[in-house]
Amino acid sequence: MTQISITVLGPTGRLGRAICEAVLEAPDCRLAGVVVRAESRFAGHDIGEILERAPLDMAAETSLELAVEGADAVIDASLPGMTIASAQRLAAQGGPSLITGVTGLTESQEEMLGAAALQIPVLKASNFSLGVAIAEALVAQAAVLPARDWDIEVEETHHRRKADAPSGTALMLARAAAKKRGVTLQEAGVWSREGTTGPRETGTIGFAVTRGGSIIGEHAVRFLSEMEELTISHRAFDRRVFARGAIEAARWMYNGGSGRRPALYSMQNVVSA
Ligand SMILES: NC(=O)c1ccc[n+]([C@@H]2O[C@H](COP(=O)([O-])OP(=O)(O)OC[C@H]3O[C@@H](n4cnc5c(N)ncnc54)[C@H](OP(=O)(O)O)[C@@H]3O)[C@@H](O)[C@H]2O)c1
Repeated sequence: MTQISITVLGPTGRLGRAICEAVLEAPDCRLAGVVVRAESRFAGHDIGEILERAPLDMAAETSLELAVEGADAVIDASLPGMTIASAQRLAAQGGPSLITGVTGLTESQEEMLGAAALQIPVLKASNFSLGVAIAEALVAQAAVLPARDWDIEVEETHHRRKADAPSGTALMLARAAAKKRGVTLQEAGVWSREGTTGPRETGTIGFAVTRGGSIIGEHAVRFLSEMEELTISHRAFDRRVFARGAIEAARWMYNGGSGRRPALYSMQNVVSA
C-alpha cells in the first residue's frame, strides 16, 4: 500500500500528540518527521519519548527543512508564529502541502497564509472534525432564513486553557452565516454584551463564550424567530476526533498521489469530495 508521509509541527502539544498517534495508527500513513522549538527539551530526542512510547528511531527536528524531507504533507498543530514561518518557508521551497489546524491568526497572518497558498496547496481548518464541517454547511443553508425575522447567536464552550476567544470554529460558523446573508462578520458581529445595551439590532450575529474545566469543544448556532428556534450544534467527546479529521484532510490533499494545485482549501472540500 502506498503511504502518505506526514510531518507534524507542534508534536508536544495536545493536538500535535493526538495527530502523531493517529498518523502512526493509520495503515495508509507514515510519520516522516516532527518539528519542535529550538529550545524544546525534546529537540534531537527520539519521537517515541514525546509520545511516551517505544523509540521510533526518528529524532525530533528543529529544522523544518530536514523534517519535511520525503514528506507529502505537513500537518501543523503549533501556534500562529510557527504556522506562518513554516508556511512561508514551505512556499519558498515549493512544498510539501500544508494542512494547518492552528487558530487565532491575526488578519495579517491570514493574509500571509493566503500568499503561501499561491505557491503550495494549503488547507486551513479551525476545526478538523468532519461533524463540524457538516455543521458549517448546515449553518450556511439555514442562514437563508430572513434576517428581519431570525436572529443568529453563536455559543461556544472550551476548556480553561484555551487562549483565544471566540474560538476559531465559532468564527468559522458565524462567517458561514454572515456570508450567506451578504455581510461580513466585522459588520454583523456583536462580540460581547454588558450594561444597557438597548434592543437587539436586526441582522447582527451575537457571540457568547464560556471557558472552564476540560471541555474539548462545544458549539451551537441558534436561529431565533419570535415563534420558533432552530439550533445547529456540535459536541466533541474525544480529542482524537480532530486528529482523525486531520488525517482525512491529508488523504484529500494527497489525492491518490496526484496532490492538489496551489490554493487555500478548507474542510468543506474534504466533506464535499
Ligand atoms: N483545528 C482543530 O481541529 C483544532 C483542535 C484543537 C486545537 N486546535 C488549535 O491548534 C493549536 C494548538 O493547540 P494545542 O491545544 O495542541 O496547543 P498546545 O498544547 O499549546 O501546543 C502547541 C504546540 O505548538 C508548539 N509551538 C508553539 N510555538 C512554537 C514555535 N514558535 N516553534 C515551535 N513549536 C512551537 C508547542 O511546543 P512547546 O511544547 O515546546 O511549547 C506545542 O507543541 C491552537 O491554535 C488550537 O486552537 C485546533
